Amino acid sequence: MDCHCRNVYIAVMTMWLPNLEGRTGPVYRAIADAIDADVESGALRAGTRLPPHRDLADHLGVTVTTVTRAYTEAARRGLTSGHVGRGTFIRGRESEENDNGLLDMSINVLMPDKEVANLEAHLMRKRVLPWTQLLGYAPKRGHLRHRQAMAAWLTYLGLPADPDHIVLTAGAQHGLATTASALVKPGDTVLVEELTYSGFRLLSQQMHFKLKGVAMDGEGLKPDALEAACRTTRATVLYCMPRLQNPTSAVMSEKRRRQIAAVAEKCRLTVIEDDTYGFLSPERWPLARLIPHRTVFVTSLSKSLFGGLRLGCAVAPPAILDRIVGAVWATMITTSSIGADMLSAWIEDGTAARIADWKRHESAARQVIARRILNGQRFQTHPSSLHMWLALPARWSSEGFVAEARARGVVLNASSEFAVGTEQPKAVRLCLGPPRTRGSLEQALTRVNECLLDRAPTARAVV
Ligand SMILES: Cc1ncc(COP(=O)(O)O)c(C=O)c1O
Repeated sequence: MDCHCRNVYIAVMTMWLPNLEGRTGPVYRAIADAIDADVESGALRAGTRLPPHRDLADHLGVTVTTVTRAYTEAARRGLTSGHVGRGTFIRGRESEENDNGLLDMSINVLMPDKEVANLEAHLMRKRVLPWTQLLGYAPKRGHLRHRQAMAAWLTYLGLPADPDHIVLTAGAQHGLATTASALVKPGDTVLVEELTYSGFRLLSQQMHFKLKGVAMDGEGLKPDALEAACRTTRATVLYCMPRLQNPTSAVMSEKRRRQIAAVAEKCRLTVIEDDTYGFLSPERWPLARLIPHRTVFVTSLSKSLFGGLRLGCAVAPPAILDRIVGAVWATMITTSSIGADMLSAWIEDGTAARIADWKRHESAARQVIARRILNGQRFQTHPSSLHMWLALPARWSSEGFVAEARARGVVLNASSEFAVGTEQPKAVRLCLGPPRTRGSLEQALTRVNECLLDRAPTARAVV
C-alpha cells in the first residue's frame, strides 16, 4: 500500500480518519474497508461527516481521485450518503431503540443492512415472471416457477423436494396454522418439545387444541419420552424443531433423528417439522429426509432472508398437502406472488445464498460476543444459533428478570412464552439478531449481564 501516513486518529484534529494499518490491496478499498469497520464497531455514527476529499488526500498522502473512489465504494456499500456541496455523511440507520427507547431482543431479525442497500437499486427490476402474471391471482399452490425456486432453496437446506409437493405460504407461522388446521381438531392433543415455539402455543390457544410437552435433553426430544407420551395420550401429531430448536438451540444429531423417526413410525405419528432456523444448523439435512411420507416440513425465508417477504412453504405427502392447500385457500386464497418472484430472482442470481452465508457468519460472530460478555453465566445455546436460553440465579423469577431488564432498556422473553405445562423455568430467552451492529449487541448484553450481577434488584421486579 503506497500510503505515507501511518497516523490513525490524530488528536489535534477532531475529524475522523481511517485506520489503514494492516490493510492490504488498493488504497481506495482499504479506506472503504476502514469506514466499514468503524460503522460496524460503532466508532462512526450515523450523521458523522467524513473529511473533505482534499483534506483526507493530503493527510494520507494519496491523490484526491483515490479518496473519491473510496467514498464512491463506501456509498455503493450503503455506508454513506453524499449531499452536493455539504459533504459525505455516514448513512442513518433506523434507530436501534424502539419508540419507548428500548433495545428489543425479543423478536429475532438479523438485517443485512449493506446487502439491502445494494438490493434497493434494482429491487423490482429483476423479475422471473411478467407483471401480468404477478398481478393476477396465483394458482392454488403458487406459480410453478416460484415453487421450483422454493424447491431449489429446499435442496440448499438439505431437503430435495418435488415442486408438486410444495405449497407456498405467507411465512412459517401461516404454514404452521394451515398445517395445524389440516391435521388437528379442537380438543385434540399435539405432542411438542417441553419448551416450544411461542407461536405454536398461540395457535393451540386460538384453535383450541391441547399441547403435551415431551422431555428434552441437549439434543432436543428424548426418544423414550416421546414413545411414552404417544402411549399415554394416543396423540397422532408431533410438532418439533430438530435443527436449532427455539428457544433452546438444541440440534438433533443424525443418530437422534433416526431414533425419533423410528418412534414416529412405530407410533404412526404425523410430524410437523419446523425448520425455520435450519439454514444456520451444522446438521446438513432435516428429519423429513428420513420420513417424508409422514412429515409436513414447514419453513420460511423470514430468518434466512427477510421477514417482511412473508414467504414460506409447507412440503407434505399429497393427501395432506391437499388439505393444507385448502386451508391456505380458506385463509388468504393464495400468497402474494411478488415476494415469491423476488425470491426466485435472488435464488437464480446467488443473492439468497450470499445473504444466508452472511447471516451464518454474523450469527457465529455474535455468539462469540455473547459468550464473552455472559462468561460465567449459565445458558443453553449453540455456536451457530441466534438464540440464548439464559438460566437465572435462584433469586429471580423469569417475569421479574424481564421486568428488570426492561427497566434497564432491554426487552427479553419470559419462559412462560415457551413452557408447556404449569412449571415456569427460571430462564429467559435472548435474541442475538436484532441489534443492528455488534456494538449495540454488546451494549444490550452488557445491560443484561449487569442485571444478572446486580445483587439488589429493584423490589418491584422480584415476583
Ligand atoms: C421456530 C419458528 N417457527 C416459525 C416462526 C414464524 O416465522 P415467519 O415469520 O416465517 O412466520 C418463527 C418466528 O420467529 C419461529 O421462531
